[in-house]
Amino acid sequence: MSVKASPNSENGTAVITGASSGIGKVYADRLAKRGYNLLLIARRGDRLKELAQQLRNDQGISAETLVADLGNPADVKKVADTIATDSRITMLVNNAGTSKSGPSIKVPLIEVDRQLDVNARALTHLSLAVLPGFKKRDRGTIINIGSVLSFYALPFTTTYSGTKGHVMLFTFGLQQEVADTNVFVQLVLPATTATEIWDISGVALKSLDAATIMTAEDCVDAALAGLDRRETVTLPSVEDPKLWAAFDDARVKLFAASQTVADRQACLEVWIKQVTLSRWPRGIYPARVNPGGAIWLSAHAVKP
Ligand SMILES: NC(=O)c1ccc[n+]([C@@H]2O[C@H](COP(=O)([O-])OP(=O)(O)OC[C@H]3O[C@@H](n4cnc5c(N)ncnc54)[C@H](OP(=O)(O)O)[C@@H]3O)[C@@H](O)[C@H]2O)c1
Repeated sequence: MSVKASPNSENGTAVITGASSGIGKVYADRLAKRGYNLLLIARRGDRLKELAQQLRNDQGISAETLVADLGNPADVKKVADTIATDSRITMLVNNAGTSKSGPSIKVPLIEVDRQLDVNARALTHLSLAVLPGFKKRDRGTIINIGSVLSFYALPFTTTYSGTKGHVMLFTFGLQQEVADTNVFVQLVLPATTATEIWDISGVALKSLDAATIMTAEDCVDAALAGLDRRETVTLPSVEDPKLWAAFDDARVKLFAASQTVADRQACLEVWIKQVTLSRWPRGIYPARVNPGGAIWLSAHAVKP
């Protein structure tokens, strides 16, 4: 027997991209159970309609669908315009994603572009579409689905990792932009999860070590538990929170070190000794090699 969520108009409407399968479909189920009304987006309208009907029946919520190809800029604009002006929207789950594995030069450019457009461009445009309304109402949640490949690239995930790296840094920036508001932005970084994306990418799920595969249900439940705890970053498959803390700490420390004059000077001195003087006659410092350092170099002549 399923328990119906009482539709909670206070929750508002959650927009979920890529709700026709996998992680997005589970988000739709879980958010419906939490009493959110839904706007479900993907290309396969038949699947969306079936899911919306089921959630309306089972959970008594309102569920609408919008068919859109998020690899198509005109469709992204259509979705962005729709969600930008709807003040009922309180949550955006930027989940739609695609992948094509292989050595970069073997992946057709059309597939490279599709990954850039769906994973990075659409996520960015849709975030920027809801953000003004969220800030104005001082309320709203954006959940951006990255990947553990946001911080790691394999020789067959180059473009996919690049797009997911964008998701991570774009989300970090947004988090800082809304830090003094009640708008919340969560970054979710799943690892291997049993969904259709693997077959789409050209890597059969069954070829992977079963012990490393999470279900989409476990992934979303962990991510929502993280959201409830107001985690800015949730890695559903990582148990030890100290690992992310160490990564984040190193990232921040390195950035801070890169901003100090002393460190900059030390770095440049090493660079000058190791690279410039060994390649170019003393006194000739090609600006194009290090545009950022060119002014500094001309102002601080290196002692031979
Ligand atoms: N599964 C994993 O191992 C894993 C790991 C880390 C991160 N992720 C990320 O998790 C997210 C969800 O993926 P998933 O694993 O659940 O894969 P999935 O089952 O293949 O779901 C992908 C969803 O994105 C939608 N989508 C793909 N291309 C689209 C397009 N051009 N326009 C609109 N919608 C599009 C698909 O819908 P239509 O085909 O109907 O359009 C589908 O609903 C992705 O961002 C993915 O990168 C997955």
